[in-house]
Amino acid sequence: AGDAPARGLHLVITAGPTREPLDPVRYLSNHSSGKMGYALAEAAVALGARVTLISGPVSLAPPAGVERLEVETAQQMHEAAQRLVEQCDIFIGCAAVADYRAQTLAEHKIKKTEGEDGLTLKLVKNPDIIAGVAARRDAATRRPLVVGFAAETRDLERYARDKLTRKGLDMIVANDVSQAGLGFGADDNAALLMWRDGEGEGGEALPPQPKARLARAVIERALSCLPERPAH
Ligand code: PMT
Repeated sequence: AGDAPARGLHLVITAGPTREPLDPVRYLSNHSSGKMGYALAEAAVALGARVTLISGPVSLAPPAGVERLEVETAQQMHEAAQRLVEQCDIFIGCAAVADYRAQTLAEHKIKKTEGEDGLTLKLVKNPDIIAGVAARRDAATRRPLVVGFAAETRDLERYARDKLTRKGLDMIVANDVSQAGLGFGADDNAALLMWRDGEGEGGEALPPQPKARLARAVIERALSCLPERPAH
């Protein structure tokens, strides 16, 4: 496969935040810029893959050669992921998906109530997109290979290992998002890679570096987890 080790493979990558509407003018979201997920998409294309990027609202242009599906809510991202599961070889969940959404979407702008200091919002859980993908993995072919991210502010290894197991992932990219200059919105990132079968016990640490370089390393590690393929 030479310089195009991903030729013939279809990767589906989620990126960016999701946006959960509260009323016609407000939403719940987070600080994901999409940079990490878009860097993964660009790296995968450079390695020869066909890439579909399921993207939440971000201000980035899609990398050349990438097919982008734009979504807003976790529910929409979930539906797009479920539609693509069966046709992909590797699924990477880099999106910062909102765990909760408003139980009811207010039809009109929520008004301030005179005489009340607080406002209580009732939230309900969103579907776990990547766990849903992993659950639909083909038992015979083990396709797709499912790679998750874990964004943690403490106990990185323990929480990430727990997500790897609980969500049924093959590989996880754990990043400490409490470090200045790394993670959300930054141009650089660092990560600890861990695998389902305890392969490389304790994980492989990738030091702080530009997201483009880290992305390439992540894609290469994911490719090396696939069963041997006949040369193209
Ligand atoms: O976008 P950037 O500004 O470049 O920032 C990059 C990043 C910090 C967002 C990225 O590196 C990252 O860590 N992405 C995952 C963020 C996250 O929400 O992690 P989590 O630990 O909450 O979720 C664990 C995994 O489950 C992730 O693969 C996530 O996509 C997935 N998930 C989470 C909740 C949910 N309802 N469905 C999911 O699929």
